[in-house]
Amino acid sequence: MELKNVILEKEGHLAIVTINRPKALNALNSETLKDLDTVLEDLEKDSNVYAVILTGAGEKSFVAGADIAEMKDLNEEQGKEFGILGNNVFRRLEKLDKPVIAAVSGFALGGGCELAMSCDIRIASVKAKFGQPEAGLGITPGFGGTQRLARIVGPGKAKELIYTCDIINAEEAYRIGLVNKIVELENLIDEAKAMANKIAANAPKAVAYCKDAIDRGMQVDIDAAILIEAEDFGKCFATEDQTEGMTAFLERRAEKNFQNK
Ligand code: CAA
Repeated sequence: MELKNVILEKEGHLAIVTINRPKALNALNSETLKDLDTVLEDLEKDSNVYAVILTGAGEKSFVAGADIAEMKDLNEEQGKEFGILGNNVFRRLEKLDKPVIAAVSGFALGGGCELAMSCDIRIASVKAKFGQPEAGLGITPGFGGTQRLARIVGPGKAKELIYTCDIINAEEAYRIGLVNKIVELENLIDEAKAMANKIAANAPKAVAYCKDAIDRGMQVDIDAAILIEAEDFGKCFATEDQTEGMTAFLERRAEKNFQNK
């Protein structure tokens, strides 16, 4: 796998994906988006990975947005194409059958905030800053920000943030439900790993079905949503890990030998 701006590391059952373009504060150009897509293809196939951490290289920035230099001279059609490229990669990330934790050190602006919102869970350092500054650049958020921010924090707060271009700190992001947890900067990756390992200790297929049920269920009415849950619940009973999990309980055995099968 040849990658220029993204690093993929694997440790036990965890994968750590680092956006690594420090000269532009990890801004997402098309090369970086394609790297991320390549990494996702690998992760989709790797049944040994049970949880993923997504972060940005360096302490200053998670991702400072889509690459403004690359976007400046785009015409309408090229703008739409760039938006679709980013949206397709982020949707692929969102639909990955493994939980993804965004570990946000510093700036998560524009496409960076949108990338974090495409993850399942966001852990922020005390130094993290979030915002959608696009309107100040003459554009809308283009990698899902208008949709995911409204779904996560509600349309009123999303509109306020997107229209004003306000940059908020970790405390405010936590207050409005944009981040799950705030930690000291030096503990960020360790805290993300601790949470990822806690998730990875549970049955991976069950976690994947939980993700599917929550994500698909949020898009439909409650009657359709509980049917999605019933389908996913049923599918768990076709897994070896369901047998193992319940047998371990009945045998009063703390150790469980989940195999992602
Ligand atoms: N695109 C391209 N380059 C970027 C960038 C971006 N989004 N963000 C930072 N950089 C580059 C800067 O141009 C600079 O490069 P040079 O050293 O070659 O000049 C380098 O990264 C360091 O940045 P600064 O000197 O600006 O660092 P700072 O500490 O003074 O400021 C910052 C940090 C507040 C994050 C500032 O860089 C900034 O405002 N960045 C842009 C944030 C932004 O507007 N993001 C949204 C982009 S649009 C978008 O994302 C659209 C979409 O939804 C798809």
